[in-house]
Amino acid sequence: MDKTELALDSVELTVVVPTFNEAENIGLLVQKLDQALGGIRWEVIFVDDDSRDGTAEHVRRLAHADPRIRCLQRIGRRGLSSACIEGVLASSAPYVAIMDADLQHDEELLPRMLGALRTEPLDLVVGSRYIDGGGIGEWGKGRAKISSLATRLSRLICKTEIADPMSGFFMFRREVFEHAIRRLSSQGFKILLDLLASSPRPLRVKELGYEFRLRRHGESKLDTLVAWEFGMLIADKLIGHLIPVRFILFGMIGVLGLFVHLAVLGLSVRGLALTFTTAQAGASIMAMTFNFFLNNILTYRDQRLKGARLLRGLLSFYLICGIGVVANVGIANYVFTAHYTWWLAGIAGVVVGSVWNYAVSSIFTWKR
Ligand code: GDD
Ligand code: MN
Repeated sequence: MDKTELALDSVELTVVVPTFNEAENIGLLVQKLDQALGGIRWEVIFVDDDSRDGTAEHVRRLAHADPRIRCLQRIGRRGLSSACIEGVLASSAPYVAIMDADLQHDEELLPRMLGALRTEPLDLVVGSRYIDGGGIGEWGKGRAKISSLATRLSRLICKTEIADPMSGFFMFRREVFEHAIRRLSSQGFKILLDLLASSPRPLRVKELGYEFRLRRHGESKLDTLVAWEFGMLIADKLIGHLIPVRFILFGMIGVLGLFVHLAVLGLSVRGLALTFTTAQAGASIMAMTFNFFLNNILTYRDQRLKGARLLRGLLSFYLICGIGVVANVGIANYVFTAHYTWWLAGIAGVVVGSVWNYAVSSIFTWKR
């Protein structure tokens, strides 16, 4: 085979499918892709976050017999957006689609999406539930309401008018992605919204309606904290260029920690009649522990520590905060002896201590 023949064989469309515990859906999805994409040179990349149900092994078994199938397995990581991003980066096709594994997205739309991208001046084609021909199937009222609220909120950061910015089903030219990649927040569930908000110029988008189907096997990973991640994404896009959203969260949790500290201190001194020094030490440990766990769940939700790493993280957090206190007192003393008022000195100490705690724990406790 010469080079031109090889080029003719190259893949035109990569379908990136993020998976977490989807073993039962993989085989069926591949069958459906095969039927829907006749005549197109395509491949599918499953990005699996080390599912316990053997999804990755299952994909590799299928891949053994079919070179159009690939598995990208990530260890110790979670996150729908980051999984999609890494899947796209593993593709070299001119067109890339992102699609869920659970058969809720209508694969029949894929050839129409590709046709539109090939022939029309477009960057992105979105499978939409909120235009003619689209629908949300048999969703409960609650989820429908939440989805419509989120859609309205997302308009705050979208540069392009679009009916379904929360869709998890879309196809784009790879340059579009390459232009946005370094600006993506890559947090949470909302990769399309991230792309729309992060692209340097408004994208040329077309929406195609489809009916969101019911999940047949396995269960949804969308939990309440996904709403939290959504809020983080919106905040990051609105103010993230001024001050990191994580730092704001870290600071807010720090303030909560202060209340915990005072409550424990009060109880131990008054209720348990401990000496002040013992009570203060106990309260500090309680507050640090409280801050650590809250930060682990909220601020660093996408890098949550578990098991042995959780314990190691906690110990490193104690150590870092311990040094933070020394820095805090040192700076406050310095400012105070330079003849500034006590409260200014106090604030300076707290600010320096918090920045230290945040910066160093982001490197050592929640290292990437
Ligand atoms: N690799 C990886 N890592 N995949 C994940 C993760 C993760 O942490 N969490 C979920 N997935 C995969 C699932 O296995 C599934 O293939 C796909 O991402 C969507 O997850 P679901 O749990 O089925 O989400 P959903 O159906 O509730 O939400 C869908 O609809 C939303 C619109 O309401 C998704 O398409 C969302 O992106 C979309 O916004
Ligand atoms: Mn789903």
